Amino acid sequence: MAEQRTSIHGQWTSRTVFILAATGSAVGLGNIWKFPYIAGENGGGTFVLVYLLCIALIGVPIMMAEIMLGRRGKQSPINTMIALAKDENRNPGWVWLGWMGVIAGFLILSYYSVIAGWAMSYVFRTGGGMFIGVTADGVNSIFTDLVSDPERLLAWHTIFMVMTMTIVARGVKNGIEKAVTYLMPLLFGLLFIIVIYAMTTGYFMDGVRFLFTPGSIDGKGILIAMGHAFFTLSLGMGAIMVYGSYLSKDHSIVQASILIALADTVVALLAGMAIFPIVFANGLEPGAGPGLIFQTLPIAFGHMPGGTMVGVLFFTLLVFAAWTSAISLIEPAVAYLVENKGLSRIYASVWIGVLTWFVGLGTVFSFNIWKDHTLSIPYIFEDLSFFDTLDYLTANIMLPLGGLFIAIFAAWVMKEESTKDEMATHPLIYKVWHFLVKFITPLAVIVVFLKAIGAI
Ligand code: PHE
Repeated sequence: MAEQRTSIHGQWTSRTVFILAATGSAVGLGNIWKFPYIAGENGGGTFVLVYLLCIALIGVPIMMAEIMLGRRGKQSPINTMIALAKDENRNPGWVWLGWMGVIAGFLILSYYSVIAGWAMSYVFRTGGGMFIGVTADGVNSIFTDLVSDPERLLAWHTIFMVMTMTIVARGVKNGIEKAVTYLMPLLFGLLFIIVIYAMTTGYFMDGVRFLFTPGSIDGKGILIAMGHAFFTLSLGMGAIMVYGSYLSKDHSIVQASILIALADTVVALLAGMAIFPIVFANGLEPGAGPGLIFQTLPIAFGHMPGGTMVGVLFFTLLVFAAWTSAISLIEPAVAYLVENKGLSRIYASVWIGVLTWFVGLGTVFSFNIWKDHTLSIPYIFEDLSFFDTLDYLTANIMLPLGGLFIAIFAAWVMKEESTKDEMATHPLIYKVWHFLVKFITPLAVIVVFLKAIGAI
């Protein structure tokens, strides 16, 4: 019986710790690095609106479903899917959902770590005073210098992977809990300071208008907005499921999910409001791509009073935010190796870490020696670099697919009595949730997929 399962990996000490850990997973490079640049590339307002709708109608219900599955299965997502399919007398083939998540997590981490490496190197660049009084051209060339040097990127990528493996090896309680408790609130405060600086640029309203005034968007843009809703909430690949498996039965899944999604959304919007005023004040290009925050925020740090200190702190916290997300990207794989192969957490983390590091080389090279090599898959994407391909495949295809099948499993495969028991919420809330995951969420994901390939 599901009720008697306990996790062999441990349990969160309290509900607050679970919320912090899940928020730590959700809030990361996705909010501060990725959201502004994809919003910029896709025209701003409408993109943001679609993203917010996806968070509310697809993200939050799927987050509840994912935590619910994890808490009921109490194992790594792979074994949770086996156990739950068995509990419900369903096809054991559902295990592939767990596997797809493990693969997505490790593909995401392979490039995530390289970008976290950029942030690490910016801690030192800011600290060394490189940006004092800098111009827009200056930040641009400092950024280009960094990404065109594969050795430096590789060194930072390696350091970040070692940091991630170290925490994962230490386990749920000693590693993950400690890291998130202090850092998240600090990051929030610092973003606030940068938004206040953005207000002094004289272009604050231009930034806000860009973020919130509807314009036009195409099918691809809608897919990217939806993919980002999954990415930013860490959904569709088992990270939230595995965190849910360490959650005790007496905590409310509904409340926790809403809090996590709110915190995540506020951080993304704050990041947008910090960055776009600086973009417009300095005549920069909102669609500058993955370098956007590295080409805008240093201008703020180079010109505001105490900017060096604020900058160092900001990039340090960004690294921490990335770190607490990175941990959750490989936790499903590590938990699986511990459960099935009898490996210690240390060995399991090292194995997965080395593999991820290796795939990360592709991203390191996409910004320099492989810059002119691109990949295409007909109907799906065209002319993307190795890094962009991984990002597109994971965020826009694997995560939404994972989410779609999590919704289908929770609402169509599991019996209502099982989900009702596990959700343990007010009957009306349960009804609304069940309706959303049963009909609205799957339909929305399918429609967006069809629209993106131009089928509707
Ligand atoms: N949510 C993280 C971010 O926004 C990335 C992530 C995706 C983490 C999927 C875990 C799982 O940076």
